[in-house]
Amino acid sequence: MGALESKKIVLGVTGGIAAYKAVEIASRLRKAGAEVHVIMTKEATQFVTELTFREITGQPVSVDMWGKVANFNVEHIALANLADLVLIAPATANIMAKIAAGIADDMLSTTVLATKAPVMLAPAMNTNMYENPITQRNMSELRQRGMQLIEPAAGHLACGIEGKGRLPEPVTIVQEVMDFMTGEQPLKSRKIIITAAGTIEPLDPVRFLGNHSTGKMGYAIAAEAARQGADVLLVSGPSALPNPAGVRMKRIQTAREMQAAVEAEYAQADAVIMSAAVADYRPKTVAAEKIKKSDDELVLHLERNPDILWGLGQQKQQQVLVGFAAETCNVEEYAKKKLTKKNLDFIVANDVSAKDAGFAVDNNRVQLYFRDGRTEKYPLMAKSELAKVILDKLAAILP
Ligand code: CTP
Repeated sequence: MGALESKKIVLGVTGGIAAYKAVEIASRLRKAGAEVHVIMTKEATQFVTELTFREITGQPVSVDMWGKVANFNVEHIALANLADLVLIAPATANIMAKIAAGIADDMLSTTVLATKAPVMLAPAMNTNMYENPITQRNMSELRQRGMQLIEPAAGHLACGIEGKGRLPEPVTIVQEVMDFMTGEQPLKSRKIIITAAGTIEPLDPVRFLGNHSTGKMGYAIAAEAARQGADVLLVSGPSALPNPAGVRMKRIQTAREMQAAVEAEYAQADAVIMSAAVADYRPKTVAAEKIKKSDDELVLHLERNPDILWGLGQQKQQQVLVGFAAETCNVEEYAKKKLTKKNLDFIVANDVSAKDAGFAVDNNRVQLYFRDGRTEKYPLMAKSELAKVILDKLAAILP
């Protein structure tokens, strides 16, 4: 029996020079036992014919909603419903932009919007298009939504330049599909509480004290934990990021609200990952009316907020506790102190003074310090990759 026996895969083919490789992808998926339904964009038909895919898959091929497909009004929903997986290979910058924006103007984009099945994309394009911050932003949005992106290969591109953007070999893509579809869910049914973004503390009805955290790291961990089967509660301070797929969301503002949300589910939790930047102080009094300016200096009196993680460490039973330490100097010393003081299993430390890592960017460079004294240093990597590393370490410790 093939690894994909009885799996129904919708293969989206978009208009890039690599579209011809999708023929081999379809063929390999079939050989692995999958039932393959191909949806081509109109542009893709410039590179490969529908007939080729029909022959290879033994199924009708859909192109656009209004043209050749007789029963279009049910078809896009039918394919969206029957899919166990939607794989788009190659995925152009254009289709990713459309999906990120929620546009449904052809059969493929409509199917993606209508499906509840997991979506994998294999981006392939010219290096400059790939590296363009707009494309990078769209890919980051898709990841946040729980979609799987297969890294393009580097090498000689059809446009004559060297760089990243080449569609990986069909055998590699099909292997990724098999790993994903048959992949174990190491965190299946584990209850994990994740905090993200910064808390804010009101000063008066229009002002607050806050910090630079955007939530990217915590949201990436939440999305990945859900993909690995965990029951995730994401407690988030204000953040512009969308709710990650498959995650229970609790949006809060202040440190005390975050504490209440975490503690409400702590007794049943298997793990807590505190990536939030919690405000250590709050204004002692919150003015009922907007504070008016005067010629005198304004003195704010601040009082301590609870240290949420320290409190969790005191009540710790079965829970694995993971903390973060954002430091601007003496990273190792400060991180290890927090590890001990807060009774953590491990702490993820980073130097937030680095420009290319940390706050508000998609990458991070961290060291992990473990309760048993182990230290692991990692190079600069995408927060989505780092999320996998952190959850791997967590899975290894979970009782
Ligand atoms: N944390 C918390 N509650 C707070 C402050 C921090 O739960 N009031 C958590 C953070 O989510 C993080 C860890 O504790 O996982 C370390 O946070 P950090 O701000 O680096 O350290 P602090 O303990 O606040 O120490 P300092 O501000 O002195 O560096």
